[in-house]
Amino acid sequence: MQVQRAPVRDFRSDTVTRPSPAMRRAMAQAEVGDDVFGDDPTAIRLEQRAAELLGKPAALFVPSGTMANLIAFLVHCRPGEEAIVEQRSHVLLSEQGGAARFAGVQLRALAGDARGVMAPRAVAAALRGGPDVPPLARLHNPRTALVVLENTHNFCGGTVQPLEVIRATAAAVRPRGVRVHLDGARLPNACVASGIPLAAWAEPCDSVAISLCKGLGAPAGSVLAGEQEFIAEARRARKALGGGMRQLGVLAAAGLLALAPESFAQLATDHAHARLLAEGLAALPGLEVDLGAVQTNIVFVRHAAGRAAEQALAAALAAEGIGCVPVGELGLRFVTHRDVGRADVEAAIAAVRAWTAEQPPGPT
Ligand SMILES: Cc1ncc(COP(=O)(O)O)c(C=O)c1O
Repeated sequence: MQVQRAPVRDFRSDTVTRPSPAMRRAMAQAEVGDDVFGDDPTAIRLEQRAAELLGKPAALFVPSGTMANLIAFLVHCRPGEEAIVEQRSHVLLSEQGGAARFAGVQLRALAGDARGVMAPRAVAAALRGGPDVPPLARLHNPRTALVVLENTHNFCGGTVQPLEVIRATAAAVRPRGVRVHLDGARLPNACVASGIPLAAWAEPCDSVAISLCKGLGAPAGSVLAGEQEFIAEARRARKALGGGMRQLGVLAAAGLLALAPESFAQLATDHAHARLLAEGLAALPGLEVDLGAVQTNIVFVRHAAGRAAEQALAAALAAEGIGCVPVGELGLRFVTHRDVGRADVEAAIAAVRAWTAEQPPGPT
């Protein structure tokens, strides 16, 4: 495989963040054991801290957000059951069909609004199975076992889901025996944007996962939290998936710093940079940005001339060492994070401005 160079100003994702010098030091000095034997003290500390922050009895370190979500499917559902997800959710679009492939779970996509918010009433109306189902329907329909919510919603532009919607959804489905999993890969961003703590978001949900390796800056890992029994089963599922790791403390040490208040404080700066970028790009000819959707660290930009123009813009930026990602019909995605500063944002706007100035005028 050809070695690719990362762009100098890298807006492709917040996953590109490199561990800080403090993280690298903590990793080098981490006290470790063997986590599969349950005696890695740093991993235990990280899981306790994550559980505390998320307001759940227990938590588990997992290698990735994708595995966290897959474990939620494996533990909450049985093969042949279905999970309700939003139609642009990450579990549906970007996890290699893992729910179907490994958990035997059918994903049923409902349309959310432009911000990715599914109406609680629509979710409740879509539930299938349960004690009051007529025998014929029972014979034919899969049983809904799980609802997955995503906060922030990546492909809707890092939008924050209203807490009252999460609460109302949980209140509508949980009494009917349906669980709620919160894919909170960027829940820390929602937290900083809204001022609502992690635990309040997690409270209505049976399980919640947050990424340590996106805006929070750790090199790898997510934490999954829930009840003790859920986490005990999640630990077994993680082992089955090959995610049991030995001297895990090396990664957990970075994870503990990712969960420190300074990492959360950085997210506020990232959000301010996203706003600056969005407003700068929205003012340029031919470009469209839904400024209302720019609530955290993600900016989607479309070109009025369509996808070919977006591809051409991405290529021109790449030639200038500026990275962004074309995401199909959603346009070009720019993500701000700790490794891009204000100067990078200004350079990106200047490069896009220069490119737009060279384009032939569009139809009037
Ligand atoms: C909303 C959401 N969930 C889950 C994931 C998966 O995380 P990972 O890349 O760690 O597997 C991502 C990754 O971008 C994401 O945006």
